[in-house]
Amino acid sequence: MALRFFEEQAHTALYRKYRLPSSSEIHSLIFNYLQRKKGEPFSLAVDIGCGSGQSTRGMAPYFEKVIGIDVSEAQIEEAKKVDGPDNVSYRRGFAEELEFEDGSVDLVTAGVAAHWFDMEKFMKEVERILKPKGCVALYCYKSPSVVDYETCSEDPAQIIEELLTAVKPYETKAKQIVWDEYKEVFDAITFPDKERLLSTMGVSSETVVEFGIKYFCLLASKPE
Ligand SMILES: C[S@@+](CC[C@H](N)C(=O)[O-])C[C@H]1O[C@@H](n2cnc3c(N)ncnc32)[C@H](O)[C@@H]1O
Repeated sequence: MALRFFEEQAHTALYRKYRLPSSSEIHSLIFNYLQRKKGEPFSLAVDIGCGSGQSTRGMAPYFEKVIGIDVSEAQIEEAKKVDGPDNVSYRRGFAEELEFEDGSVDLVTAGVAAHWFDMEKFMKEVERILKPKGCVALYCYKSPSVVDYETCSEDPAQIIEELLTAVKPYETKAKQIVWDEYKEVFDAITFPDKERLLSTMGVSSETVVEFGIKYFCLLASKPE
């Protein structure tokens, strides 16, 4: 059963407006992994828990077609409002019940979303829809480890860290999974060929604040 925190239109409109796009570094890292493990063709990538599409659009340059899937109709509506690349489309659906044919997908991604999924059911679907040697990439991030603002006398990253530490005991189970840098999600990936990367990356932003965010990215390839 999916947890539903992104259903209100007012909420999803704000999400679309202020959500920063995923780091371009993460998209190229994922694509390089797919290139290495499977190679061409790069016909179809699906991005599960796509929200308003910030994570989905980043994969567009690499694939003939990219489809974003989200359980929230409101998120899908917001994603469709964005003037994005022509090869990207969105539809409503569940991570645990993916409406794709067996062996039809090159890459499955989920950005900042897998901690909400029923991983056992999701992995069964991933195994079913991926082509042989197709890949799954599940990434997320914790609090910013670098926050730079020229006139700020204190270290903003330290302030954010203190705030998050104070609220940590009251966080949901899903947030605990994020705090543990996706250890539980990694264990739930059923492919033997898998890796867990931890690294700090920049994010693009229109603000004058500079962020460096600790991403974690789980990569795995379906056996032949
Ligand atoms: C934090 S948002 C991330 C959105 C986007 N990937 C991004 O990086 O901006 C998580 C999204 O996952 C969706 N979601 C949660 N559980 C889901 C499920 N079981 N199946 C499909 N989508 C789900 C939510 O509706 C929400 O839009």
